[in-house]
Amino acid sequence: WPDTARLEAGQLWVGGVALPALAEAYATPLYIIDEVTLRGAMRAYRHALARHYPAPSRVHYASKALLNIAVAQVAQQEGLGLDLVSAAELLVARRAGVDMTSIHLHGNAKSDAELHRALDWGVGAVVVDNLDELERLIALSAGHPQPQPVLLRVAPDIAAHTHAHIATGAADAKFGFPLAALPVAIERILAAPGLHLRGLHAHIGSQIFELGQLAATVQVLVAALAQIRAQYGVTLEELSPGGGLGVPYTDAMPATDIDGYAQALAAATQQACAAHNFPLPLLTVEPGRSIIARAGVALYRVVARKFAADGRLLYLHVDGGMADNIRPALYAARYTALLANRADAPPTAPVSVAGRYCESGDILLRDAPLPAAQLGDVLAVAGAGAYTLSMASTYNMSPRPALLLLNAGQVQVIQRRETEEDLLARDLPLAATETPQS
Ligand code: LLP
Repeated sequence: WPDTARLEAGQLWVGGVALPALAEAYATPLYIIDEVTLRGAMRAYRHALARHYPAPSRVHYASKALLNIAVAQVAQQEGLGLDLVSAAELLVARRAGVDMTSIHLHGNAKSDAELHRALDWGVGAVVVDNLDELERLIALSAGHPQPQPVLLRVAPDIAAHTHAHIATGAADAKFGFPLAALPVAIERILAAPGLHLRGLHAHIGSQIFELGQLAATVQVLVAALAQIRAQYGVTLEELSPGGGLGVPYTDAMPATDIDGYAQALAAATQQACAAHNFPLPLLTVEPGRSIIARAGVALYRVVARKFAADGRLLYLHVDGGMADNIRPALYAARYTALLANRADAPPTAPVSVAGRYCESGDILLRDAPLPAAQLGDVLAVAGAGAYTLSMASTYNMSPRPALLLLNAGQVQVIQRRETEEDLLARDLPLAATETPQS
């Protein structure tokens, strides 16, 4: 739950606002972000790196976790850069007034239009994923006045201990250059007047709790930096070991240790650099989930129930589900929830919470310890800030929820609810032709 969460007269409050009242006023499903928790996590990363790493460091918010104009503005105010992966994400950053030089553009299948935009708007770095992209970038950057900084994404051959769908570090994962393929890419960049090779990047996966795997990633990258210096006489200045620090979605999972993470990365970088007699690089990290997950709460209304033949309560049916949070269906992800309007009622028999979508896998919570819910109760799901709305769909023609930013009793709508008209706006009727006669 967010830092400001508290119970008062059985009601769950966040950011100085009673959540059941918000559900009433703004309708459900509804997402809220606690600004204090969000800014706190951003600061925790910056301060922890500054404390443990003696050379410069930067924190880039991995905005695929949740991006909108207001969140980008908060990141900018807190001194974070952004990791982006699409042309429209670049546009959000631009509308938010984000400094383009604080942006890294990622992606394994960037379009020419995206590369063009990155070059035209002067992003801080393009993170080059593969040779085909590199060749296009070389061609597109040729006429540009300023050399475009690039990082090379390395597949460090480290298998992260996480869900297979979100492990990205294996040599045969879809992302990045295998180590053995780096020389070709490096030679192409060094020969390209439009590009400036600034460093190496790797990201081994998400929801990682074993800091040793992240330290191992740093070792691989520093060894590669030393090898590049030996082979080409260039000393690259940036080391980006990605993001991926895990968050606890249930009590059974370990806590998020931002300080321990920064300490482990800083120590691994310093040790590896000392071993290779390499100067300490700019250390850039890219957390997404661990910055925004806990700040977010999803609110749903209990609209119906299913009882077994013997009268046991089997399911609470709520008015959202896999369209706003696909993580349970996609990764068997677990969450923690409570009834926001009766938060002090003791749990009864475990009950599952079913989403409203036409798919039997649309189960938000399995066997959750909740009080016997009644129709109209408001279910609050914790840890809902990351990879929920950013992965939302409009399945079953469902408008995507509104997003509110809460702080000290103030409520700001930072993303309005989608309307039916929004949903229909792209549909065009058949051209008027004669109806074929049979
Ligand atoms: N950097 C790169 C290059 C990434 O691909 C990612 C996440 C991050 C940083 C941020 O990782 P984080 O700190 O958030 O773990 N949809 C999945 C997660 C996909 C993560 C994709 N890349 C989920 O809901 O669990």
